[in-house]
Amino acid sequence: MNPSLSSEHTHSLWMGVDMPTAHTLNEDTATEVCIIGSGIAGLTTAYRLLEAGKSVVVLESRTLGSGMTPLTTAHLSNVMDRGLSAIIRLHGEQGARLAVQSHTAAIEWIERTATAESIACDFERVDGYLFASSNGSESHIEAEWQAARRVGQTTVARYDSASPLAFPTGPYLRFTRQAQFHPMKYLSGLARAVEEKGGRLFTNAHVTEVNANPHISVKTRNGRQVAANSVVVATNTPINNTVTLHTKQAPYTTYVIGARISAGSVPKALYWDTEDPYHYVRVHADTINGREQTVLIVGGEDHKTGQAEDGERRYAALESWMRERFPMAKDVLFSWAGQVMESIDGLAYIGRNPGDSNVYVATGDSGMGMTHGTIAGLLLSDLIMNRPSPWASLYDPSRPSIKAAGTFLAESLNVAAQYGDWLTSGDVASAHDIPVDGGAVLRDGLHKIAAYRDSDGVLHQCSAVCPHLSCIVAWNGSQKTWDCPCHGSRFDRFGKVLNGPATSDLSPLPASNPSPS
Ligand code: FES
Repeated sequence: MNPSLSSEHTHSLWMGVDMPTAHTLNEDTATEVCIIGSGIAGLTTAYRLLEAGKSVVVLESRTLGSGMTPLTTAHLSNVMDRGLSAIIRLHGEQGARLAVQSHTAAIEWIERTATAESIACDFERVDGYLFASSNGSESHIEAEWQAARRVGQTTVARYDSASPLAFPTGPYLRFTRQAQFHPMKYLSGLARAVEEKGGRLFTNAHVTEVNANPHISVKTRNGRQVAANSVVVATNTPINNTVTLHTKQAPYTTYVIGARISAGSVPKALYWDTEDPYHYVRVHADTINGREQTVLIVGGEDHKTGQAEDGERRYAALESWMRERFPMAKDVLFSWAGQVMESIDGLAYIGRNPGDSNVYVATGDSGMGMTHGTIAGLLLSDLIMNRPSPWASLYDPSRPSIKAAGTFLAESLNVAAQYGDWLTSGDVASAHDIPVDGGAVLRDGLHKIAAYRDSDGVLHQCSAVCPHLSCIVAWNGSQKTWDCPCHGSRFDRFGKVLNGPATSDLSPLPASNPSPS
């Protein structure tokens, strides 16, 4: 690993792990199941299907595990991110009970598989602590305590004093048998196991089209085609579903820093507070720059993707929150940001794509990507093999969400408001105002242009219109990307698509060379 901190805040603690060599899709092929996406959901599904004797092809747009997996903090928890009391309100007691059970089963499956496949992924069982934030949220703790008792969660205890940390936390809940791991070491081992079981992994196989009728065929940018009986779209946010699912979830950007600490100075555990957005903390020890180091990982400061331009301020706020509570934190070695797809009712969408019979999706991680991704692998493989699953209706992408109507309306209005960007002026008056290694949206008559100036002063220009549903992208100065404020598509500085739901790049315009003023 190379921990030198990038000014672009894209240096995750988990990057740098060797992944198995995948292949290039040079010819058309056929398989029983085609899986799009090589993250936790895609590879867990592949592994389970291969174990059951199915033939599997995995298509990855870039390199193996280049999506959201390296950008997580890899909390493995059955403590619901949205809050268990909210999950009971939205899904009933039985639904909440099944949700907790499914996340518990996911952690157990990861533990078993890491052992069975000899994956050295630093898996550890740890406790999890939910503590009241400083602005007085004891009632939140009480509500979660009562909710846990209602659904029979037996691994939780409530404390009113004796902080688990070096600063006063007020009342808190302790959940035993949570876990943590190194997500990329795990993913690498899982990819190796998939290959050993006969799975065919292809990288740089960017999918541009998924056709379900009359037969399933998946087309890639290089003109190749995969015919399959079933297809699983495990791309964080679905690239095949243009509208329906994107009205039921919203993209949020979350920020993370990793600071060096002395071994043992913060107990190894998962920590969350009750602020909105909340902070999440864990500890990881690893070999960094050739020596064993311990890193305190702190995340939070979430906002809707493409709707805030103050990434630097958010990193600074995170660091200040950390230093106030963890004075033992030394230099910040890592900083990165990830995208969370928040479903309107707090649970992922895993199952048949609405309207299709043999097309399956896994999305709406809701801040629990590692466990929801694993649940996707367990559930989707059962569905594809026509096995019953107790979780099928809970996670059904077509489920009604009447009790989440308020969130649905608020998110829909928020998306509608983003189309107002067509009418506004540009971020800057002229391209001359764009600094080196900076970007801005310019107005040119009726058009909006996404302009980035490289280190040589060359201005690279694309249409600022997102190819998904035509919102105007926004410049993300801390990640150096173009982010769509509507459904979370992201593009690199030159307009090349990084994340769906868009499947194509921003339309390029000719580059020009005016120097910045
Ligand atoms: Fe939907 Fe951009 S992601 S319009």
